[in-house]
Amino acid sequence: MTTAGGVDLRPFAPALIPAVVNVWNAAAGDRFPLRERLFRQNTVDDPHFDPAGCAVAVDARTDAVIGVAVAKVAREPLGADGLRADRGWISMLAVAPPYRRRGIGTRLLDAAEAFLRGRGRRRSVLGSDPAHFFPGVPDDPGALRFFAARGYALRGDAFDLRRPLDSYRTPPAVLRALAANPGIDVRPLRRGEEAPLLAFLAAAFPGRWRYTVARFLDTGGAVGDIMGIVARAEVLGFAHLFPPDASWIGPSVAWATPPGDVEAAPARAGGLGPMGISPAIRGRGLGLALLDRSVLHLRAAGATDAYIDWTVLLDFYGRLGFIPHRRYHHGERCLAD
Ligand SMILES: CC(C)(COP(=O)(O)OP(=O)(O)OC[C@H]1O[C@@H](n2cnc3c(N)ncnc32)[C@H](O)[C@@H]1OP(=O)(O)O)[C@@H](O)C(=O)NCCC(=O)NCCS
Repeated sequence: MTTAGGVDLRPFAPALIPAVVNVWNAAAGDRFPLRERLFRQNTVDDPHFDPAGCAVAVDARTDAVIGVAVAKVAREPLGADGLRADRGWISMLAVAPPYRRRGIGTRLLDAAEAFLRGRGRRRSVLGSDPAHFFPGVPDDPGALRFFAARGYALRGDAFDLRRPLDSYRTPPAVLRALAANPGIDVRPLRRGEEAPLLAFLAAAFPGRWRYTVARFLDTGGAVGDIMGIVARAEVLGFAHLFPPDASWIGPSVAWATPPGDVEAAPARAGGLGPMGISPAIRGRGLGLALLDRSVLHLRAAGATDAYIDWTVLLDFYGRLGFIPHRRYHHGERCLAD
């Protein structure tokens, strides 16, 4: 524990989770309403979370939790991407509004960076960690200025997209693409198709995407939540779907709960992504067909809106009416002394 200015930095303990979730919601819950289930899923229930990477700021007078930082390093290989041993990630950082501009964010970030340095990491990257909350730093002027003042280079965009589903109609181009590819099915995968799915991912997307889908299946995720492009017994494309009742909160729907009583809000959001298709069948309209079938599937499962996270492909998704909903910036700094 370190104390300065009446504020203690304490190590994380699971008993602090409700207070940590509350402090996040006090800091940023209007734009990013955090559910306790999501915090647990992306931290204590994830193999990459190390409690030593989580620092909690406490007001020493009242014992109230007033800030939190989570840093992560990969603790098992992310498929062919391996451990990404050059970098670690700042997964989240927040200070309660009444305590801002007193250097507490800086102390929390210093603690997070010290954790990364202690594990030999030379780059600190904002967001995009395994089991991430954010693909980068949210487009918030205060947060951006804070990280810029702390030596982070901020460049590059990533977007979350959204579209309402009630008005969705399959465009004629999708029907034409499906008719022009008669040997190809675009449909939810079936039990028993896990092996061809993983073989496809190993060939086409062997890094983090294969790792994440394999972990999803290993932890009891339903293969039917993967929309596939299938030709004979071979999988040639995939889209990972998160229907409203999915047990795993996909990153696309992480922040889709309305602010307020986040724990009680009914699930209405459907999530989509990652998605990708084999280079051998690109340029035939099948990417749009995969997106179309995914959107229809989510609507049939009760979703009123569909969300896609962490993309720069605004034109592609825009063809089916998706528009940017949130924007993030890539940010990183070198930790060399
Ligand atoms: C970002 C955040 C953690 C900063 O916490 P903080 O305790 O206020 O930060 P510090 O007091 O250590 O600020 C250090 C420096 O950063 C800059 N800075 C911080 N907040 C700023 C703001 N709102 N506007 C302009 N500059 C700011 C300043 O240079 C500041 O130094 P100064 O006060 O001497 O001018 C806090 O604003 C927050 O919780 N935001 C909401 C959550 C969020 O968006 N987190 C990032 C993504 S996970």
